[in-house]
Amino acid sequence: MAVLATQPLLKIENLRTYFYARSKHSFIRAVDGVSLEVGHSETVGVVGESGSGKSIAAMSVMGLISNGPGVIGGSIRFTGRRVQRDLLEGLDKFVNVKERHGRVMVVNKDEAGWQKASERQMKNLRGKEIAMIFQNPRASLNPYITVGEQLTEAVQLHTLYKTRKEASDRALYWLEQVKIDSPRLRFNSYPADLSGGMCQRAMIAMALSSEPALLIADEPTTGLDATIQSKIVNLLEELKSETGISTLLISHDISVISRLADRVAVMYGGAVVEYGQSKLVLGEDASIKHPYTAALLASVPSEQQIRDKASLQTIEGDVLDTINVPAGCRFYARCNQITPEINEKCASHHPELREISPGHQVRCWRFSN
Ligand SMILES: Nc1ncnc2c1ncn2[C@@H]1O[C@H](COP(=O)(O)OP(=O)(O)O)[C@@H](O)[C@H]1O
Ligand SMILES: [Mg+2]
Repeated sequence: MAVLATQPLLKIENLRTYFYARSKHSFIRAVDGVSLEVGHSETVGVVGESGSGKSIAAMSVMGLISNGPGVIGGSIRFTGRRVQRDLLEGLDKFVNVKERHGRVMVVNKDEAGWQKASERQMKNLRGKEIAMIFQNPRASLNPYITVGEQLTEAVQLHTLYKTRKEASDRALYWLEQVKIDSPRLRFNSYPADLSGGMCQRAMIAMALSSEPALLIADEPTTGLDATIQSKIVNLLEELKSETGISTLLISHDISVISRLADRVAVMYGGAVVEYGQSKLVLGEDASIKHPYTAALLASVPSEQQIRDKASLQTIEGDVLDTINVPAGCRFYARCNQITPEINEKCASHHPELREISPGHQVRCWRFSN
């Protein structure tokens, strides 16, 4: 128990997930040295533009990276009540990565050995201790089985509610918890009979029904109508205070993150560029944040701008190509805050994440003089 009190539930250190892009004959560094923690009962948000490596980081935690020569390194320490282990332990002996000048040149991987070891590490974890919800809930539900039946099976499989009656009562309980309209009716519905918002609620019920220690929510509101989006955010907010479940919340939408996250990691080009308390990272003072975070925040329309239909600031330039990672700061080509004093360093040296105030880290030469 002492271990539980001192260790975060999830501790990701130097996570690296690379893929081979056949068409380009090169390796993509989808996640490149990410470290972050999710404490007990904490919601940690991961935000960044599309392609910044958020989903791949989540899939790496779930042990769902299997794509051919996709490789993953670092450590993912899970310290739950029932299970404590490093999900990547022993996997490195199945892969061998060679790098030269910021390019990953060769990856040798014993795919079968790696898969087997990974499955062993994930046993009793995926879907049980760690549950995940995705952007497209309909795709994650079986279209041929009623919602209630799917939930009942999940409850029976993962919890101590083993008899049919106990498990179906519990399934109904979860449909009520996610505030789905007419839960008894939905219990007997097929996924096709549910609206998008109801499907997302059913998916959340499914994830929570195994009573996981950690919930990973990857773009849980993306693709839903605006009004439904805000209802799902409200629901997540309520579940957070009612269940106290630890959550890794991923979204490209900074407003979703700012409403739900206690702490935030901002990702750019596979790396965390800023990390800390939401109120600092997403707060108003642009002078104490990474230029990328400042740009992301400036691209969110204010109420006033929405009313005035004002044009928005966009972040100039293209998202980083993570095949040829530059030697300098990854945001260099798009940064609007480079001064002559730091230009040289920005262009040629990759800055470290540096603590600029207690619990607030920024990866930028402006703060690293
Ligand atoms: N299976 C894959 N094979 C090759 N590249 C991939 C694969 N999956 C994702 N990527 C690449 O990894 C990068 C990060 O993707 P992703 O984590 O999905 O971004 P995000 O969730 O932040 O939008 C992207 O450049 C994407 O093209
Ligand atoms: Mg994604």
